[in-house]
Amino acid sequence: MSLENQNILSAYEWLTKLYHHLLRFTKDGKEGYSYFKDRGVMDESIDEFQLGFAPNVKDFTAEFLVKKGFHQQLLIKAGLVTLKDDNSVTDRFRGRVIFPIRNHLGKTVAFGARSITDQGPKYLNSSETELFQKGKLLFNFDLAKRYIRKESEAVLFEGYMDVISAYQAGVKNVVATMGTALTESQAKLLKRYVDTVILCYDGDRAGLEATYKAANLLRSVGCIVKIAKLNEDMDPDSFIKENGAEAFQNEVIKASDTFISFYMRFMKQDYNLSVEGDRINYIATILNQLAMIDSPVEREYYVKELSNEFDFSMDTLTDEIQTIRQKKG
Ligand code: GTP
Ligand code: MN
Ligand code: MN
Ligand code: MN
Ligand code: MN
Repeated sequence: MSLENQNILSAYEWLTKLYHHLLRFTKDGKEGYSYFKDRGVMDESIDEFQLGFAPNVKDFTAEFLVKKGFHQQLLIKAGLVTLKDDNSVTDRFRGRVIFPIRNHLGKTVAFGARSITDQGPKYLNSSETELFQKGKLLFNFDLAKRYIRKESEAVLFEGYMDVISAYQAGVKNVVATMGTALTESQAKLLKRYVDTVILCYDGDRAGLEATYKAANLLRSVGCIVKIAKLNEDMDPDSFIKENGAEAFQNEVIKASDTFISFYMRFMKQDYNLSVEGDRINYIATILNQLAMIDSPVEREYYVKELSNEFDFSMDTLTDEIQTIRQKKG
């Protein structure tokens, strides 16, 4: 590793400890500590994830690190401070709680930082560096890895808080992307460790759309995909907070849908099923998808569902699927 990268890692290591210490033990970090307490994060989790607080001081971080012997230029490169026109520096993270983003070896390579007021963007991340490429890392992969391997199953979330809540609730094979769509590189990384990925995104429209895209990508690299269902106004963290760990395990994770069930539900939003033409187009779309399933038993399962819902005979639907399969060879 280049000397520069070693120094960047070292800067992040110092800061992770400093921010965590401030949050945990000092008056300067009390706001941050209260914030996590209000959200139900236990001390044990605060320590395990090394959550921290960056004070609302213009150049607190820059000053600390320069005193430690780091060059200003390096701090800019590390995505921790920005240079002003008058050549002074300003910290990137001020008055925010800090989520250290660790690489797969457990070293902090970036921070996610959440506003604890209503001001500014909700989250800020360190800018990308050679060591931190959002599309290549998964948040919490280092801690989750052994659980992922053990269960040959991983749960993928959208947010840091979802990971922390689930982990705290005892569901530990959990990782998240960092505010961007799942990439092929992340999908392949998961595929190396698991057969099955459970997608557990936010229940809102954006979450559904992102789920569909992520599911297709994961399937294209050979993963079996399951989809956890959450109400429109919920995300995994808020579900756990409202309903508890056990409900999350049983009603969300264990009750997750197969991809096809999700697909049948998801596709409905594109059609007005009270209109005959739309109903037929919807069914054609679903049959096309079912035709790609190789197991006859599995196909029959969904054919039965469609048949019940739309009052077509199973024979008709099955014949149609056979025709599509033959056409596709
Ligand atoms: P909480 O409100 O803290 O529970 O956050 P959340 O994780 O539920 O946030 P949300 O579902 O809105 O977003 C999911 C993830 O996207 C977050 O964990 C962040 O990684 C990222 N994200 C959300 N908002 C922003 C933002 O304003 N800027 C950036 N860069 N990333 C964001
Ligand atoms: Mn958002
Ligand atoms: Mn969201
Ligand atoms: Mn969310
Ligand atoms: Mn949330």
